[in-house]
Amino acid sequence: MLPKASLLFVASLLAALPVNADGIYTKNSPVLQLNPKTYNSLIAKSNHTSIVEFYAPWCGHCQNLKPAYEKAAKNLDGLAKVAAINCDEDENKPFCGQMGVQGFPTLKIVTPSKKPGKPRVEDYKGARTAKGIVDAVVDHIPNHVKRASDKDLDKWLGQDEDRPKAILFTEKGTTSALIRALAIDFLGAIDIAQVRNKETASLKKFGVTDVPALVLIPGPDAEPKIYQGDLKKKPITEFLSQAATPNPDASGRAAADSKPKPKPKSKKSKPASKPTSVADEPDVEPTASEDQDPTAKPAHVPIPAPPIPTLSTPESIEASCLAPKSGTCVLALLPASEPEAAIPQSVADALASLADIGHKHAQRGAHLFPLYAVPDTNSDSGVLRAALGLQADDAQTVQLIALNARRGWWRRYSVEDFGAVAVESWIDSIRLGEGTKEKLPEGVVIGAEPQAEEPVAQPEAEAEADAESVEPEAEAQAVEHDEL
Ligand SMILES: *[C@@H]1O[C@H](CO)[C@@H](O)[C@H](O)[C@H]1NC(C)=O
Repeated sequence: MLPKASLLFVASLLAALPVNADGIYTKNSPVLQLNPKTYNSLIAKSNHTSIVEFYAPWCGHCQNLKPAYEKAAKNLDGLAKVAAINCDEDENKPFCGQMGVQGFPTLKIVTPSKKPGKPRVEDYKGARTAKGIVDAVVDHIPNHVKRASDKDLDKWLGQDEDRPKAILFTEKGTTSALIRALAIDFLGAIDIAQVRNKETASLKKFGVTDVPALVLIPGPDAEPKIYQGDLKKKPITEFLSQAATPNPDASGRAAADSKPKPKPKSKKSKPASKPTSVADEPDVEPTASEDQDPTAKPAHVPIPAPPIPTLSTPESIEASCLAPKSGTCVLALLPASEPEAAIPQSVADALASLADIGHKHAQRGAHLFPLYAVPDTNSDSGVLRAALGLQADDAQTVQLIALNARRGWWRRYSVEDFGAVAVESWIDSIRLGEGTKEKLPEGVVIGAEPQAEEPVAQPEAEAEADAESVEPEAEAQAVEHDEL
């Protein structure tokens, strides 16, 4: 037994855990990728609402979020900004810390306040689905649209008389995300009001017979113009641009076009009409926010998850897991390896997944049986492999097993995917007493009397019902947010 060598071995394992400098979003992703500078210029100083994901490329829940997040980005195009920052990058780490990020992914909704550059920042803790995200962000889009009636429309028209005005006539009592986004794009340039179709005097005044209708009043003496085209952001922006130029950070694909390192300066010099690009037909529309599932809790992957403890000697594994009274233990039996050799991905993944799961439970104060790494240099590792029949062609791979010496059962993780999600669902099944257990062979438990048998399939005393599951991608058909 060479405990020192095993420690070195485990240390080299841990040093080699995957650190991927590449982000999980590609250049062509609709998700805007940020660094601290561009966060400040494109998000903090924006008049638009944003959602920002703080992530690490190695985090399984972050990878799982990607499709939903990209879908949300497409659906919110032209309405709000959807961005991400890779907290694994050295240049971003201090910033992620400053932002109070304690786990991955962390989603924050950034809402402009009255003070420019000082937005309100709050965690998004809703469902990690495109619909959940879109609905929450839409709820945070500021409303600069004046709701006017027959009584006060003239007064509103008289304010800042030289500034162009636009009036949306609609049957709706609510202010759509699209008209709110347009009002933000033209903030300070065109004042926008919304008038319901029951305000008949106002409709008559502008000759509006059908709603929705958008009327542009370019100036005090100019003829009002009625917009009758498609009720989409791009053509409406073009229509309004006859009277004034949209603001520099008018939202839309233009923002995303400047990736991967968006330069605010070059953005400013872009032709003003550019940001009008496309509120494309979203392929999935979010539903109204009432049916958001309030019980769907996001799972947090903590940073940095401390490594799971190592049992490097037979004594330690026997004391912790193989004594007659030992409860459930999860062991990662590591394969033999030269200290200098590269760590197999499966080993790194398994250890990272267990570290994430263990730390997550610890943070929540939730009970979880212990998780240990057992290096091959611990002679009990070979004994276990042999006794459990894991020897043959498995010696080269990491083996995850759970065992309970007191109750005399063990089970094996038989999936090839060692990602956090797969491993966690196995852990959860153990906690919940689900799945098949096998009888521990004689001799594994040290100093055990021949045991009074307990039914192996009995659910564990430690089974808990608070298993966190990854939310299903409950996407549904929906209310369009990009209509007037
Ligand atoms: C935000 O709105 C103000 C008008 O209130 C405008 O002057 C400014 O350019 C806008 N900011 C950006 C970044 O577009």
